[in-house]
Amino acid sequence: MEPSLRYLLPRAILTIVLLTILIAGCSNNGPTNGGFSVNPNSPLDWTHTIGPMLNAYCSACHSGPAPQSGFNATSYNSVISHVTANGNRVVLPGDPGASELLSRVKGQGFPRMPPGGNIGSDNIQAIEDWISNGAPENLSSGN
Ligand code: HEC
Repeated sequence: MEPSLRYLLPRAILTIVLLTILIAGCSNNGPTNGGFSVNPNSPLDWTHTIGPMLNAYCSACHSGPAPQSGFNATSYNSVISHVTANGNRVVLPGDPGASELLSRVKGQGFPRMPPGGNIGSDNIQAIEDWISNGAPENLSSGN
């Protein structure tokens, strides 16, 4: 191998490897990172489905001592009782159309949540069904 090639080739390969890692990292880097898939065998309630879902997609910004817009997405009571800056309930049990949670994840009327992301149609459908069913906290008789 020519001396200059022996010098350049490993560097070229290293550059390609590093770029590949960087690009893969970036495309994965949105707020939807982590993700959540509805388990059809789990009860459609806060404890088993909606809580873990919002934890995966929302808690990065909506938890802790200073959540975005004062909205804490990590507890049932705060999600059920929160009134948004637009004067809407985040969740109005039984009325998905009046629940800003649904319009936010659909990106209808308000900036989509998570910003720049999309939780996917199965998760959106689960939120809609959960609210239609009265937004129960825990349907299982056990815990
Ligand atoms: C990367 C940070 C980030 C993530 C992740 C995020 N949000 Fe937000 N959220 C914001 C910001 C910033 C605002 C304030 C701007 C606005 O109202 O659009 C906001 C506002 C909101 C509001 C309005 C609250 C109010 O009191 O006015 C709701 C509801 C909301 N987010 C729900 C969600 C839900 C549900 C998720 C997860 C599916 C989520 N957000 C994920 C940053 C985030």
